[in-house]
Amino acid sequence: MERPLPFAVLISGRGSNMLALAQGASDGAIAGRVTLVISDRADAAGLVAAARRGLATRLIEPLRGVERAAFGLTLSDAIEQSGAELVALAGFMRILDAGFVQRWRGRLLNIHPSLLPAHRGLHTHRRVLAAGDRQHGCTVHFVTEELDAGPAVIQGRLPVCAGETEESLSARVQRLEHIIYPRAVGWFAAGRLTWKDETAWLDSRRLTDPVIEEAE
Ligand code: GRF
Repeated sequence: MERPLPFAVLISGRGSNMLALAQGASDGAIAGRVTLVISDRADAAGLVAAARRGLATRLIEPLRGVERAAFGLTLSDAIEQSGAELVALAGFMRILDAGFVQRWRGRLLNIHPSLLPAHRGLHTHRRVLAAGDRQHGCTVHFVTEELDAGPAVIQGRLPVCAGETEESLSARVQRLEHIIYPRAVGWFAAGRLTWKDETAWLDSRRLTDPVIEEAE
């Protein structure tokens, strides 16, 4: 068997996607291993959860008044020193500078709680309800300089039900996130998901549209 792909996970909060990725790596769904979990926030519950799982963790907080690029460099160095060859952003609530994105280009994935390109940015569940959308979900995509706009790999889709609240919608979307993110990272670790000509490829086919996972 090929050597497991070393990857790092960046979080800012609860870390449920980080845990889903760590679980995928330990149960074999991902031919990989988590080298490091980094949080930019000391109060991220995911830091404690990661340490409890025996994962290496680091807190890297941006210093006030220090440029974003300097923070990106510190992050990059820590990731590289851990031996990671892929970076998975999992609820990392900070915009990364262009230098960071370029350094990890094609090896940088994110999960976003909407059916991109719809609803980039924050408060997606609230905005979906306000817009009266009938469908919602989540997207794993490669990260490029433009926020939430890199090539999409896989989307989990679900219908918005009558009487839905922001909380119920968020919970349903998160369940889907925990399915599609390990799947995408698993593809990458298996060499099936690649980056070429500035876009995503799966099994040597250009992904003009993301793979769709439908849920009830
Ligand atoms: C997820 O909903 C993800 O889509 C978004 O931030 C949230 C992180 O949740 N980017 P968790 O920390 O993984 O539980």
